[in-house]
Amino acid sequence: MSKEAELIVDGKSIKLPVIEGTEHEKALDIAALRAQSGYTTLDIGYKNTGATQSAITFLDGELGILHYRGYSIEQLAEKSDFLEVSYLLIFGELPTKAQYDEFAKEIAAEYTVPEAFKAIIKATPKDAHPMGVLSGLISMLTSFYPETTEENASPANVRKTIVKLLGKLPTLSAWLYKYSLGQEFVEPRKDLDYCSNFVNMMFSENGKAYSINPVMVDAINKLLILHADHEQNCSTSTVRIVGSAHASIPSSISAGISALWGPLHGGANQAVIEMLEAIQNDGGDTKKFLAKAKDKNDTFRLMGFGHRVYKNFDPRAKIIKIACDEILKNLNVNDPVLAIAKGLEEEALSDQYFVDRKLYPNVDFYSGIIYKALGLKAEFFTVMFALGRLPGWTAQWKEMRESGEPIGRPRQIYIGKVDRQYVDINNR
Ligand code: SDX
Repeated sequence: MSKEAELIVDGKSIKLPVIEGTEHEKALDIAALRAQSGYTTLDIGYKNTGATQSAITFLDGELGILHYRGYSIEQLAEKSDFLEVSYLLIFGELPTKAQYDEFAKEIAAEYTVPEAFKAIIKATPKDAHPMGVLSGLISMLTSFYPETTEENASPANVRKTIVKLLGKLPTLSAWLYKYSLGQEFVEPRKDLDYCSNFVNMMFSENGKAYSINPVMVDAINKLLILHADHEQNCSTSTVRIVGSAHASIPSSISAGISALWGPLHGGANQAVIEMLEAIQNDGGDTKKFLAKAKDKNDTFRLMGFGHRVYKNFDPRAKIIKIACDEILKNLNVNDPVLAIAKGLEEEALSDQYFVDRKLYPNVDFYSGIIYKALGLKAEFFTVMFALGRLPGWTAQWKEMRESGEPIGRPRQIYIGKVDRQYVDINNR
């Protein structure tokens, strides 16, 4: 007999089924609450509302745990590679060698992008923020590949569309970067693995000798793994709700890119480096900025700190912080903002305001320092986040459609004016 909770409302006993997940999380199923009582629920920002049941990623915010399909992020960041993690998230199991090689080959075959996209990119302002352009380019893929909009796509067609996006997002991202630098586009190379091809398109220059730095490749591989999925965060929830209308995968991912751009979400990695550089330019007084972050009359926030779910260290932040030291040392980069970041973290972690609110560094706090050391401009940090999150977004879209979820359509409580009579404009 499944467990139930009892709710007494207006003197009436309402029984609500209790749902328990494989990691023993518990929820009340309120689907029948309105029919039984006329009540709906209100949870602005969905701070404690489950939107789905998912088998992809598990977070424990109190313990700082992150698992992809049951594997800890620590194991995967150390032992796996981004395509293998992508396969795991999308199909549910680690691939065999043959499955991995087939998947990598399919993706490499999709590195190329229709020539028209070069003209489209060149038609945008050079200083346009890449996230705005990228969101448009990804949605535009449906114009060149109409099969990606097939409403009841077969599993084979869904796989083809996901592979298309995994192959083309790095190329489009690299071409946007080249365009922002005023450099020629570098064509993708199918003979290179995923991260090496990306590094080559981003940092080599046509006609000039270039050797791909394995330290950069490893750094990007690890960062993409760490960003690959994060259960029902803002952009993933966006992808799922857009996809629940039976919109295509590219258009759902385009919406996810737009949500990720927000500085409270993926855009925080750009905001962190801008904050650290502002502190550096202001003389490096971290105590002054910590006070600003605590001052309710000051809009300044400690970007890269705090999290809706993690009330402990974000496990990704711990891994990135260690990687940050190693990568800067291997690249022989000495960036003073790293010392500012460490000082800020140390002070915040012993400050009552942050301790009381369980505010810890999140995934965005150190990642920007690595991207900067790799030579990226700050507005491209969130593009890197999107590259990493793409497999998670597509896995979540696929799961939502395969489980036949209905169109997402939350309820509301109306608090506006009532029973008003129309008055002719000449009498108002
Ligand atoms: C990501 O959801 C995910 O999984 C997202 C993500 C993913 O992988 O997809 O992990 C990626 O988006 C990480 C978060 C990146 N954003 C930032 O670093 C921006 C700075 N952080 C905050 O804006 C904030 O912490 C959020 C948005 C991350 C979380 O906000 P919540 O859960 O809505 O919490 P809140 O804003 O209600 O804050 C609770 C309290 C408030 O103080 P009181 O009103 O209780 O006095 O904590 C304070 C806030 O003022 N607070 C901060 C703070 N974050 C929260 N105060 C100063 N600096 C901060 N960074």
